[in-house]
Amino acid sequence: MSAPTTANPTLSPDDIHWIPTSIVERVSFGDLFTSQGPVTVDYGCGEGAFVLAMAKRHPTHNFLATERLALRVEKVCKTAARMHLRNIRVLRLENLYVARFILPLNAVSTSYVSFPDPWPKRAHQSRRLVQPEFLTAVRETLVPGGELRLKTDDLPYFRWMEKVIAESEGWDRTNWPEEPELPRTNFEARFIAQGLPIHSTILRKRAAELSPPLI
Ligand SMILES: C[S@@+](CC[C@H](N)C(=O)[O-])C[C@H]1O[C@@H](n2cnc3c(N)ncnc32)[C@H](O)[C@@H]1O
Repeated sequence: MSAPTTANPTLSPDDIHWIPTSIVERVSFGDLFTSQGPVTVDYGCGEGAFVLAMAKRHPTHNFLATERLALRVEKVCKTAARMHLRNIRVLRLENLYVARFILPLNAVSTSYVSFPDPWPKRAHQSRRLVQPEFLTAVRETLVPGGELRLKTDDLPYFRWMEKVIAESEGWDRTNWPEEPELPRTNFEARFIAQGLPIHSTILRKRAAELSPPLI
């Protein structure tokens, strides 16, 4: 699992595509990225417009994008290489598995879940990404005060998220304020062009409460 070196002036898609040497050990971000900096994870990045724009805009931050579809992974890696982005890696692996088994604990600054597949049929709702075990796994990867930012166009799924959030401990929930400067995801651009409303929320990981000192 070598990180692309700063000495090498050219980047290839293979430098961006991260194939872990182990899928039973958590990675160290020091091994994954060429320089230190806050890490953002984009779960289910799709074609990557958002994470690529963020990586370009924040060269001192690091970005990990996950995606299960090979062609999308390939596309994001090719674009990142063309853009000379050394601060982004793309992992083709299932989101829950990544949060639960691959990412280091207490290490991620911000995580994004943007327009996850809504699985509208009742029989398929167990396939939705936002489930109690996903929130727990993501919380464990975040630094105290780190954020999970959720966005969807699908109101029934948003209501589902709110229920799951209400039952998930260790978060402070806040509204996601308007951030006109924030790059749009591919799906977001499409939905906004169609005039559809977007539902969003931010969960902030609560710092572990310290026990009062024994007197
Ligand atoms: C509706 S698209 C949204 C893509 C992107 N976030 C956006 O807003 O443009 C959902 C993406 O998540 C990916 N995906 C769905 N389930 C996944 C999973 N369990 N693990 C990793 N990726 C997943 C899909 O392949 C798809 O690219």
